[in-house]
Formats: sequence, structure tokens, C-alpha cells
Amino acid sequence: MTEADYQEKIPNNVDLHEDRRLQRALESWHPNFLNWWESMGPTLPTEDVYLRTAVNVGREGWAHFGHVAMRDYRWGIFLAERDENRTIGFGQHKGEPAWQQVPGEYRADLQRLIVIQGDTEPASVEQQRNLGATAPSLYDLRNLFQVNVEEGRHLWAMVYLLHAYFGRQGREEAEELLHRNSGSAEAPRILGAFNEETPDWLSFYMFTYFTDRDGKYQLGTLKESAFDPLSRTCEFMLKEEAHHMMVGTTGVDRVVERTAQVMVENETDDVAALGVIPLPVIQKYLNFHYSVSLDLFGSETSTNVANYYTAGLKGRWLEERRRDDHKLTGDSIMVDSLTPDGEIGHTEVSALTGLNTDLRREYIADCEGGVKRWNRILADAGLPQRLRLPHSAFNRKVGAFSGIEATPEGEVLSAAQWEQSKGQWLPTDTDKTFIRSLMRPVHERGKIAAWIAPPRQGINGKPFDYDYVHLS
Ligand SMILES: [Fe+2]
Ligand SMILES: [Fe+2]
Repeated sequence: MTEADYQEKIPNNVDLHEDRRLQRALESWHPNFLNWWESMGPTLPTEDVYLRTAVNVGREGWAHFGHVAMRDYRWGIFLAERDENRTIGFGQHKGEPAWQQVPGEYRADLQRLIVIQGDTEPASVEQQRNLGATAPSLYDLRNLFQVNVEEGRHLWAMVYLLHAYFGRQGREEAEELLHRNSGSAEAPRILGAFNEETPDWLSFYMFTYFTDRDGKYQLGTLKESAFDPLSRTCEFMLKEEAHHMMVGTTGVDRVVERTAQVMVENETDDVAALGVIPLPVIQKYLNFHYSVSLDLFGSETSTNVANYYTAGLKGRWLEERRRDDHKLTGDSIMVDSLTPDGEIGHTEVSALTGLNTDLRREYIADCEGGVKRWNRILADAGLPQRLRLPHSAFNRKVGAFSGIEATPEGEVLSAAQWEQSKGQWLPTDTDKTFIRSLMRPVHERGKIAAWIAPPRQGINGKPFDYDYVHLS
């Protein structure tokens, strides 16, 4: 394994100094990245933040913790260790050696996959840029910034691939990744969920739980790629992504815990006036973030995705654990569909064209885990209420159900019925205004906002009241 070079301007474990052209190209992209970070990144001014920096990819100690000024964060290029004997695990090239270069015939498709992944990374930083001003604690503030700098590093990871393997077109795409912006009218981000606002911390936790989790599953499929540099890049990104999942999971835990506590103490469900978030509002935010995240998996059937699989560009979640031929040419899968009379149903399609459904199914099973956890918190508090995932037909803009409206239970509604009742299931302006009214910053060491419980553990063994962030 190549040792990480930490003395270089761009820390890396890809021997960047050996390729002067590539190094110069990335060094000229660097100031553009910093400009983007300054203008589109976190708005709260800070002196320094207790951050984890990737310094290597080995099993021990890839992460270094310390207070750093965010501007000086060492974004770097880190690929997981290369396995010299790695072979392709699926598709028509199964068993052949993994590719170290991009085969000409797959160049356009691979570039597209990398650009789509790359576009989401800076998008979330843009979506979250104003959250620092209303952080419920320094601990949470630190976690927000950790997620932000790592999404910045994930952008670096994708830009490295574009520069190193896709020539002039790749460099142009790398520029475009900084040019498009979340929510922009002229140049929006590619995927819908990444143009939504993240205006408050409940949204942030839901986003890191549901939308970052989509990222985890997409990275999981790219980790299987026959194009080895992409595979190794994604493998390392997944390690960082685990922290983002933790922020979302425990963030929602803590909101539910605090609400449950106030409900029990006051023997009421009506806790808004007591300064915490009522369970029905939490459910609405969950409904929203879950349904827009389901859209990120694309249509139930896709010939593009079938082709990506057959070509070896993008595999399945945990491909090697699947007990089939990893080619899927004769297999089938049931996918969501509409019946001829507009009812919710299922159809059987070839397993290859149904791969988006396969991935979405894995994702949904994972999301059930969160709901179970949050319901355990309610049960432990002695409360009968439960949270749940809405039906896959609820609030969809992509796929078989995009043309219909349905309740969270999966009952089809007319457009008029939907308009009339959607406020019961999705955050209304009143809900959003209420949530915003709770978002008052707590930037004092060891203190926390009243609408959320403190975490059970701090970061890297530090206590909750540690000075995670020094504001300027
Ligand atoms: Fe990411
Ligand atoms: Fe992430």
C-alpha cells in the first residue's frame, strides 16, 4: 500500500507527485474549490472545529482528530488499498481482472455515474450552509461541520477520478460540479432531493438519516465496480459515510427521546407549547424525507441500469453475498407498478431491468431499522404511539407512482382529496414555522436546546461539554 503523503499541498495516497500533469491540474482546481467553499459552504464564522481528518486508509488510525480552522482542512485524495488480484464480480466480464483504466466503450457511462455521485456531495454542503447559526449545541455544530468537510472531501474524490481518467471532458465536468448549485434556477443540482432546502435541524437529522443513506447504497453499488479506482474510492468514502449515518440516527433518537420525556412528564401529546416537537410533526418530516429519498433510486425498471450491471460498471448492494450467478440473465423480480385501472400493484420484470427496485428494497429494509429504534424509545417511555415508514406510493415524483397520489397507508387518492389532506402527512407552513421558532442557537459549552436530548456519547471519547467548536 502507498503511504499517504501528507506533506503535499493535496494530501493523497495515490502518488500524485509522480504525475506532474495531474498534480498541476488538481492544484489549479484547488483555488476554485476553496472559492466555492467560502461562498457556498458554512456561513457561521468559526475559529476552529474539533474535526476528524483522514490521514490514511489502513485499518488502524486512518482518522486524526484535532482542532483545525475549517479553511485549512486537509481535503485529500484517499483510495482504499489496492487488491492486486481483484477480479470483476458480476456481469458479462465476471472473473476477468478489474480494470485499472477506463475501457473506451464504457467511458461515457462511467463518467456519467461519477458526475451524478459527485454532484450530490457539494450539494448537501450547500443545503446545510446556514444551519450553524441555529445549532442546538456545540456537539451538534461540530458534527454538522464534520459532515460538511467530508462531503467536500467526497467531491475531491470524484474530481480526482474525473481528472485522472477522463481527460479534458473530465476536467470540464469537475468545473461544472462547482458551477451547479443546490436550488439554483439556472444551474440546479442534478437530483431532486439535493435541490430541497435543509432549513432546520430536524430536517438535517432526517436528511442525514434518509438521504445520506441513499448515498451509502449508491456508493455500495459503485464499490462493486469493475473500474478499480472507482471501487477503491467508494470503499473509503463509505467509511466516512458511517459517521453521517450516526449523526442522523442518533439525531432523530434524541429528538424522539426528548419529546417522549416531555409527553410523559406532562401527561399530554400536545407538547408544542412546551417547546418540543410533537410526534405527528416528527412523522411528517419523516414522511417527506423518506419519500424524496425513495425517488433518488430512480424508476422501478431501467434499461440503463441493466446495461451498467451487465457491463460491470455498477453492481448490487453486497454483490458477493448474493447467491446467484451474478449475471441475472435468466432471473426475474417483482416491482411496484400501476394496474391498468390505476391501482397500486406489482409486475414481474427481468432481474436486470429491476435492479433499481432491488437496491431500493435493501434501502427500505435498512430504514425500517431506524423506525424500530425510535419506536423502542417510545415504548421504553411507556408511550403507545409509534412512528412508521409511509407506503412506497406516498408523495412520489419518480417511478410508477409519480402519476398518482396515495395516503401513507397506500390508499389511492384523487388529486382533490390529496390537496385537501396532504397537510396531515407532510410538513405544512405552520409546522415549518413552528420548527423554525425552536431553532435558537445554543453555542455555549455543555448546554443544549430544550427540544432535543443530549447525546449519550461525545466524539472520540470526549465528553458532551467539550469545547468542540471555537466561534470567532
Ligand atoms: Fe458523501
Ligand atoms: Fe454523507
